[in-house]
Amino acid sequence: MSLLPDRERAPDGNDSRGAISPQEMVPSRKNVVLVDGVILNGPATDVKAGEKFVEDACRLIMKEVVLKATDINEKVCEWRPPEELKRLLDLELRDAGEPHHRLLQRCQDVIRYSVKTNHPRFFNQLYAGLDYYSLVARFMTEALNPSVYTYEVSPVFLLVEEAVLKKMIEFIGWKEGDGIFNPGGSVSNMYAMNLARYKYCPDIKEKGLSGLPRLILFTSAECHYSMKKSASFLGIGTENVCFVKTDGRGKMIPEELEKHVQEAKKEGAAPFLVCATSGTTVLGAFDPLDEIADICERHGLWLHVDASWGGSALMSRKHRRLLQGIHRADSVAWNPHKMLMAGIQCCAFLVKDKSDLLKRCYSANASYLFQQDKFYDVSYDTGDKSIQCSRRPDAFKFWLAWKALGTLGLEERVNRALALSRYLVEEIKKREGFKLLMEPEYANICFWYIPPSLRQMEEGPEFWAKLHLISTREGDVHLLWTTARTRIRTTK
Ligand SMILES: Cc1ncc(COP(=O)(O)O)c(C=O)c1O
Repeated sequence: MSLLPDRERAPDGNDSRGAISPQEMVPSRKNVVLVDGVILNGPATDVKAGEKFVEDACRLIMKEVVLKATDINEKVCEWRPPEELKRLLDLELRDAGEPHHRLLQRCQDVIRYSVKTNHPRFFNQLYAGLDYYSLVARFMTEALNPSVYTYEVSPVFLLVEEAVLKKMIEFIGWKEGDGIFNPGGSVSNMYAMNLARYKYCPDIKEKGLSGLPRLILFTSAECHYSMKKSASFLGIGTENVCFVKTDGRGKMIPEELEKHVQEAKKEGAAPFLVCATSGTTVLGAFDPLDEIADICERHGLWLHVDASWGGSALMSRKHRRLLQGIHRADSVAWNPHKMLMAGIQCCAFLVKDKSDLLKRCYSANASYLFQQDKFYDVSYDTGDKSIQCSRRPDAFKFWLAWKALGTLGLEERVNRALALSRYLVEEIKKREGFKLLMEPEYANICFWYIPPSLRQMEEGPEFWAKLHLISTREGDVHLLWTTARTRIRTTK
């Protein structure tokens, strides 16, 4: 079905507005500026047609995505296997462009076969639901297309970022600090690893890795996999990531950490960083930050807290005790795009240091961009703290949602997610065929589904082998994993 009104279609039924008529393109013959066979003073694009296309596409997004987001009768996903989906979408890129009605049809197909992450029944790992304010913020930034490196290009968004970082720093409990929004918690962890190493040996920026002792870092066995990636990417090496044992709830055991640090020192390695996790990815565990901070202080180690997932609890007066001691961290990763629903991607890397360490570590002082003699205060050109050049104004999504809901509204969002977790746990306990793995600390609820055929069987090796097989066949990991973070909206 075409979404175009009839009056906008050509008599043959096709929409001809996408094609630009030669009369429109060509200026009068005597005014033409022709270089290398290109008319430079003709329109580069058909503006009217482009505007109309945006208008129609926005209407389509409103109808097919936004208004259907809360409709429980809609499908979460119209699943197709890859080969069939390739055929349905006709992905090949050709020499000639297509008219707008065809493009709108394509947009409709993309929506149709995409997973509706806004749907009330989307229960994937990391995020869910629709925050209308951050969505509008995303529309705005897509339309304005700013790049957050210098104040002259992004005056509003740089100030917004500063305001959001300041508030997040306040919630961590630091008096002051610094930070940068970046494309993900994984990247924040990489920022932290590199910054801690720079603090340990500032010469590394110029001299590189040669001549350094064997640097070693410590994190829990339940940490996010980005620790390994960062260590390999930064030339530290995955063998120099020491995975400290966790207790039965998935929390790092401080005595084990102490033991490993001492052993590493004895072996002549150079410990430089401990990465604690506040809200582990699978179990939702919170490492004991105060005890870990004591060890870091004793050994002069940088303490980074990966609160990508658990950081949201800082917004809740009821639950922020989970991150007790976070103010003692040197750096923190916190993703508002997870439980706070700020839209992917919205991730902050925050640093306690206020001596410009972040900038000293990352800056390259490109003279074409970061001139020091501009007509405004160049300390607002914060882009050189980033590993990126072009950078999206991700803080704005969070800012608009925060403005709309207030701190109290965000707090309620967190409280609600955790209340939903409690509810789910009680339901699991009540229902036959479900086995809770442990009482959750946060919004991760790990449980087994035991099918009727296994319910009378004793829990021996055969039972577990069969259960694993079933979980795998059902297309999921052995440990079924869900979180209430994915269900923070109600349906009527
Ligand atoms: C604890 C933790 N750290 C880091 C990350 C990575 O965050 P991102 O997906 O934004 O890279 C995740 C993602 O789930 C996480 O759970």
